[in-house]
Amino acid sequence: MRPTWEKRANVKKKIILELKNVNACYGKIQVLYNINMTIRQGELICLLGGNASGKSTTLKTILGIVHPTQGTVSLKGENINKKPTNYIIRNGVSIVPENRRIFPGMTVRENLEIGAMHRKDTDQVKLDMAAMLDLFPRLGERINLLGMMLSGGEQQMLAMARALLSDPDILLMDEPSMGLSPALVDQQFEIIENINKKGTTILMVEQNANMALSIADRGYVLQTGEIVLDDRAENLLNDPSMQRAYLGGEF
Ligand SMILES: Nc1ncnc2c1ncn2[C@@H]1O[C@H](COP(=O)(O)OP(=O)(O)O)[C@@H](O)[C@H]1O
Ligand SMILES: [Mg+2]
Repeated sequence: MRPTWEKRANVKKKIILELKNVNACYGKIQVLYNINMTIRQGELICLLGGNASGKSTTLKTILGIVHPTQGTVSLKGENINKKPTNYIIRNGVSIVPENRRIFPGMTVRENLEIGAMHRKDTDQVKLDMAAMLDLFPRLGERINLLGMMLSGGEQQMLAMARALLSDPDILLMDEPSMGLSPALVDQQFEIIENINKKGTTILMVEQNANMALSIADRGYVLQTGEIVLDDRAENLLNDPSMQRAYLGGEF
């Protein structure tokens, strides 16, 4: 939770990412219907919904892995509908993918360096690398170990640190709590909240609605490819139709 005045301040901040009436398909099968989302600088937003509701596809559409068949995706005001993924990444979007996907055969250090690969501000990168090892001391202790030697929780930290080292305007996270033990899930959400408080704008996809809403500013809820609820996190936490969204009831 943040003080109310901070939330008000957010409203005036610039829009980082905007989806307007976005439709998306895999071949002939439509999976996203008329998606509208607005994410402003500094916000922590969660995208919720049951299995196969279109959460990952929404992230893929933002990243240019899937291109919208209708509507627009804008990044800092620029229409990126037809842009390739590498352009979108270079222009400020970073992702912690589902199941982490670090490079198992590379060391922790090499994995981190890949995150900063496209940056030219070398001195700042060194500073940021040190800051990451401060934020995740476990990674510092394991800096020369191969990715595959890390535990699930450590791999998640590595994936987050790698994504942050690209210095993104917005960090996307696909089910960061998946596959982690309950204690690590708590720690994971604490880290996400902390990263956001330090200034990173975050769009987090989660099935774990209560946990996600407990740290988010706002949430969107997807049901079979449509946004059925869209509200401040504290309102969604108390909204009886949340359950309906997950169980597939009518809206
Ligand atoms: N590469 C793909 N090709 C065809 N259909 C897909 C593909 N990826 C996902 N889908 C379908 O799109 C729908 C939404 O999937 P997804 O966005 O992965 O949902 P979620 O992340 O909410 O679980 C599902 O019905 C899924 O089967
Ligand atoms: Mg998914």
